[in-house]
Amino acid sequence: AALPQPYRASFHFQPPDNWMNDPNGPMFYKGYYHLFYQWNPYAAVWGNITWGHAVSTDMIRWHILDLALLPDQWYDQYGCWSGSATFLNGKPVLLYTGWSNVSFSRDNQVQMQAMAIAVNYSDPLLRQWTKIPQNPILTAPDGINSTKFRDPTTGWLGKDDKWRMIVGAKRKHRGLAILYRSSDFVQWEKAKHPLHSVARTGMWECPDFYPMLASASRNGIDTSVTGPHVKHVLKVSLDDTKHDYYAVGTYVTGNDSFIPTNAKLDAGLGLRYDYGKYYASKTFFDDNKGRRILLGWVNESSIESADIAKNWSSMQGFPRIVWLDAENSERILQWPIDEIKSLYKQKNTLESMRLDIGPVVKVKTTNGAQLDIEVDFALPELKQAEKLEVNASSAQQLCSERASSRSGLVGPFGLLVLASEDQSEQTAVFFYIVSDGRGSWNALVCSDQSRSSLSTDPDKTAYGSFIPVFGNETTMSLRVLVDHSIVETFAQGGKVCITSRVYPTKAINEEAQVYVFNNGSVPIQLKKLTAWEMETVDIGPF
Ligand code: FRU
Repeated sequence: AALPQPYRASFHFQPPDNWMNDPNGPMFYKGYYHLFYQWNPYAAVWGNITWGHAVSTDMIRWHILDLALLPDQWYDQYGCWSGSATFLNGKPVLLYTGWSNVSFSRDNQVQMQAMAIAVNYSDPLLRQWTKIPQNPILTAPDGINSTKFRDPTTGWLGKDDKWRMIVGAKRKHRGLAILYRSSDFVQWEKAKHPLHSVARTGMWECPDFYPMLASASRNGIDTSVTGPHVKHVLKVSLDDTKHDYYAVGTYVTGNDSFIPTNAKLDAGLGLRYDYGKYYASKTFFDDNKGRRILLGWVNESSIESADIAKNWSSMQGFPRIVWLDAENSERILQWPIDEIKSLYKQKNTLESMRLDIGPVVKVKTTNGAQLDIEVDFALPELKQAEKLEVNASSAQQLCSERASSRSGLVGPFGLLVLASEDQSEQTAVFFYIVSDGRGSWNALVCSDQSRSSLSTDPDKTAYGSFIPVFGNETTMSLRVLVDHSIVETFAQGGKVCITSRVYPTKAINEEAQVYVFNNGSVPIQLKKLTAWEMETVDIGPF
């Protein structure tokens, strides 16, 4: 008999089975969103990497097509690794990394960049792809170890009509984005200087480089747009910490370099897209709706033998729209795409109430395992907050020390999701407000998995970050997408995001409950809570 599958997502993308990792080449073409992904056709563990392919009209209801790229050439015989799509005169082409150990005359090149084009551009589903005969179009340059040379980005066009793109690499202890230029997208010339590099940041996997409107409008812009009205974002995925870091800065087109606005928040050092599980992400400009969309790989907290037993591993994060924060131009904001509303079924609410320390308040649901929850709390008098220093490196640790179960002063308050009726299982998403003793306040934002499962197998690390709380701020808000074994949190309008993976044993399907709690001695006013029950998407063949 087939295993019961209480942990598969209902509205997050997953292929029907086996291992998935990075999202690749996302784009919109002739009425369809295309998502490619790193996929092992044979097992629920990494290996034999191909490009899976799915299409959708809303980035939610995906249909699986035939594999787009298979390891069938000498330069990619061990795997077709990550890459990106670029439109050349309206026609998308794919750049990707081939993995091989074939030496030929090419002195043991391992990772090489290759290109594929669609066989029939009048097919909106772009069902068939072919690799160009000029492949590999790039091998590792002198001074770069060919095992650390991969993940070409979407190209962008300069004022000189030449294409640019970057490839992630590492030299000694420095991560770098090697810059290439080309007139025809096939023959590439390495620029003298990388677009950017940062010491002590590890290998830059899956770099992403794109413009944002400096006006902080939610509208997105095409990857080639430059000018004084634009800021650029450079994102890198660090292979050692397995986190995605980004920096906002200026793209100096004169010499093709990137200068971060704040050197302390340079790529690989500062801000993260997500403080939980989120990696190898990629954005694309959605010219269908004029916005920039972010997709990211959410890996497992389950152990490998459990993945093999359930025959799948990983999900994609729910598509997010990204734009610059008007309040703080060094930061971007992220929010689930609006299409999510097409999945809403029953609406469950809690009206305004006072939350005293201790007793939890249940949110009535019929299926607490698939929800989109929004909750607003009123900030109490901040003078009562505990004095506690938080910074980027201490927040996660403080989130496990100031765990939801411990009582505090202003908080912890928030939600228990995927909770069993007796709360012996619960994933706590919460705020803890602290004072720096100098008249400023911060909110720790935490996702505490420590009690998420009675099973001892899954990883239950607590995640967290913090947000400065301003004197004029009145509300602390959480948006939490709950989907069987994924909990995606967007705090304070998308200033901080935390994604976690959990494997409850009791709090599954209709048994999963939601509660509001306050474990701080200062009463907290709940302003309003809405929990939408979500439809189940059937990700089938086209
Ligand atoms: C990131 C990554 C990429 C590589 C791909 C291989 O998760 O390691 O650098 O191209 O996965 O599957």
